[in-house]
Amino acid sequence: MTSENAPPGVDINRASIARVYDYLLGGKDNFAVDRQAAQMALKITPDGLEAGRACRAFLRRSVRHLAAEAGIRQFLDLGSGLPTQGNVHEIAHEVDPDARVVYVDNDPMALAHGRALLADARTTTVVGADVREPEEILDHPEVRRMIDFDQPVGLLLMAILHHLHDHEEPGAVTRRLTAALPSGSYLAISHFHDPGDAHPDISQKVRGVEKIFNETLGTGRWRTHQEILAFFGDLELLPPGLVPVAEWRPDGDEDAGQTDTYHTVVGGVARKT
Ligand SMILES: C[S@@+](CC[C@H](N)C(=O)[O-])C[C@H]1O[C@@H](n2cnc3c(N)ncnc32)[C@H](O)[C@@H]1O
Repeated sequence: MTSENAPPGVDINRASIARVYDYLLGGKDNFAVDRQAAQMALKITPDGLEAGRACRAFLRRSVRHLAAEAGIRQFLDLGSGLPTQGNVHEIAHEVDPDARVVYVDNDPMALAHGRALLADARTTTVVGADVREPEEILDHPEVRRMIDFDQPVGLLLMAILHHLHDHEEPGAVTRRLTAALPSGSYLAISHFHDPGDAHPDISQKVRGVEKIFNETLGTGRWRTHQEILAFFGDLELLPPGLVPVAEWRPDGDEDAGQTDTYHTVVGGVARKT
């Protein structure tokens, strides 16, 4: 993209995680500053592209599971990102064309492109809001229009909680959101993972990428297994639990090869009883 076709509010001189992620997924909605930030991280973990693909594949499998097996018909996708292949509503609509999806993001480019490509007024909508303000999301008129909080909801926190600093209390944010959902709802999370002493060499690389992310994007926190597990609170994790995203109910399309990033993104899906 060039500065001429940047939507209003987009700062092309500062990298944005929505656009860096788009670049890693092979998209075109990114600028030189985003590609530069991504390349710096890829120097440390050259298989970073695989991590992006594995994350999206986990999102597809978990949404398919929630729609097809768990009967979920309404999804709240927070930190939804730029439109890509296999968006949440496309997966849900394969199961039920009436399934409803609310996409929420705070990136101007994700919102502009999302509104153009994802919103259809009847079943999908795009809301500009900040995940750090859960009340604002829960009370938003568009969210209230689309989501019936008396019926089970699929809450998706995919690759978003690691963009909240500790002092922004991602645990409290997640608890507030899940508290608003009725029993029978589900929470799906994918998150950057620091494998620590189990893989010290990978842990060291992760620290290097974390530094680059914070210098270029201002966020990025690779948490431990226990820290990420705590986000699920007292919800019941479905088998196989919180695992490397490639291991969450693989459907045969996945390349199960264990690269460095295999260990650095984990995911899980849990049910509110
Ligand atoms: C790495 S992308 C993940 C996209 C998608 N959820 C996925 O898993 O493929 C993270 C997204 O979260 C958004 N984001 C980051 N911080 C946010 C915040 N505080 N509130 C809302 N969205 C946020 C970014 O703009 C970006 O689109």
